[in-house]
Amino acid sequence: MTKKSIITSALPYANGEIHLGHVASTYLPADITTRFLKLKGVEAYYICASDDYGTPILLQAEKEKKDPQEYVKFWNKRDYEDFTALGINFDFFYRTSSPENITFVQEVFKKLLTNGHIYEKEIIQFYCKFDNKFLPDRYVIGTCPYCKAEDQYSDLCEKCGRVPEEIENPHCSICKNPPTKEKTKHYFFKLTNFVQELNKWLEEDSHLQKDVKKYVQNWIKEGLVDWDITRDIHWGVPIPLANAEGKVFYGWFDNHLAYISSTIKFLTDKGIDGKQFWNAADIYHFIGKDIVYHHYLFLPAMRIGIKKEYKLPDYIPTRGHLMLQAKKISKSRNWYIGLKDFLSLYPADYLRFYLTLITPHSQDDLNFDWEEFAARINSELIGNLGNFVNRALGFTQKSVDGIVPETEEFDSSDLEAQNKIKNLVNDLSPLMEQNNLDKTLKRILEFSAHFNQYFQQKEPWKGAKGTNNCIYLSVNAVHSIAIALYPFLPESSEQIWVQLNLSGKVSEQKWDSMSDLSISTNHKIGISSPLFKKVEMVDIEKHKAKLGTNGFS
Ligand code: MF3
Ligand code: ZN
Repeated sequence: MTKKSIITSALPYANGEIHLGHVASTYLPADITTRFLKLKGVEAYYICASDDYGTPILLQAEKEKKDPQEYVKFWNKRDYEDFTALGINFDFFYRTSSPENITFVQEVFKKLLTNGHIYEKEIIQFYCKFDNKFLPDRYVIGTCPYCKAEDQYSDLCEKCGRVPEEIENPHCSICKNPPTKEKTKHYFFKLTNFVQELNKWLEEDSHLQKDVKKYVQNWIKEGLVDWDITRDIHWGVPIPLANAEGKVFYGWFDNHLAYISSTIKFLTDKGIDGKQFWNAADIYHFIGKDIVYHHYLFLPAMRIGIKKEYKLPDYIPTRGHLMLQAKKISKSRNWYIGLKDFLSLYPADYLRFYLTLITPHSQDDLNFDWEEFAARINSELIGNLGNFVNRALGFTQKSVDGIVPETEEFDSSDLEAQNKIKNLVNDLSPLMEQNNLDKTLKRILEFSAHFNQYFQQKEPWKGAKGTNNCIYLSVNAVHSIAIALYPFLPESSEQIWVQLNLSGKVSEQKWDSMSDLSISTNHKIGISSPLFKKVEMVDIEKHKAKLGTNGFS
């Protein structure tokens, strides 16, 4: 592991509220990873931005009769607030429409041009006579030429994940009329120039997920097509050429470059050489599986095309889609739960806990289920973990005035308990390093379950021999839990720290110190109180009834 890391997660489009689907696959895993790396002593920065450009946003702003600039400003602020409420802790949250990104995108384009990766071509483009405009991307709906899925946008098939060259049976998404075709001059990025280098990178980068790699290698085998990077609209990064007036870049040309430009801006403001840092760091891009094509082909090809002035990603953790009660999330059918709404019902850590447990490090889809949410919070978070912490600290408070007693000779179950603490970091670290966040959290729960049993079996309330050992080891196990839990449930972890009456914050501790028995005899713990409140089934029934209505939006 290098001592520097940049972590990004797919930039949210600035055109609507963040919902649970966004959070599960992308922002939460990235946040957990960043918090972990920071505890490991890595100089890690989590960088994100709103994705402001592109036809979907212009289309939406037009529908709501708003100026696109104002429109994206609103969502940039709102998204940031919602993320913050979930404890998603960006070091910097910027925007793709920043002056820094505009300049950077234009520079990259010029370099690609100089390096022979861009060409001009006159193309025939859909045009709507009724709306008097060219119809790029989402302005046109039709049938995917590959998998024949209907009602797909012309720039991305949501069924098969491919980017079609030309959609079949097109119609205008504003007025539904079939469009006509007109001539216009566009710029193309020669993706086909990069087949060899992309294959090499896919083969050599050992950190990339195997299942995703196979997919992408297959796409390359099927044949790549050059990539039209021009849009005839007024909302986007202007193409910096004299004869390209009124044309902007396709949103997917500029958005991922904001990973770099936002990082550089952030680091420069801190007095750090951004480019040097980037190239010395481990680069992580967290994404959902719907944008694999863009991150495993366009993004690396563009970086190769500017001679790897900025290094390629080391990790592209790719996760599946969240379903809701086993049905596909759909904003238009109100089948989704807004993050803000959820957090008005339950604490951030409940959501972080449940989503982490159900989200593997793979492309498998996951399912949010209200009943399962309640069951897992009640039995695993509260019944297991919360219960142990509360029992251990509550008993220490009651029986020995909160003062950790001197120990006696350890018996075999004490020794076993002590070993659990000493081995915890070795148990968890390899899982974390492979980004198996769900498995790590499960291990922490196993650790806590072990201590619940240990406590139960020791029966310290009887005051027999061994009671002091039980208190001492249990309080130390709570300390271990506080540290191990921090990346996942930062708020609860800090609360435990306060209840332990330890100085500083968990965020300032070292990950490896979870395996130290650092609470010694005579330490006086703080006031203990239950960390969590049970989820009531009557409430769950109410939430469920609201799904699909306007209740959650
Ligand atoms: N806004 C895009 C989406 O939600 C993701 C952009 S990721 C990045 O699908 F590459 F732009 F950065
Ligand atoms: Zn039309």
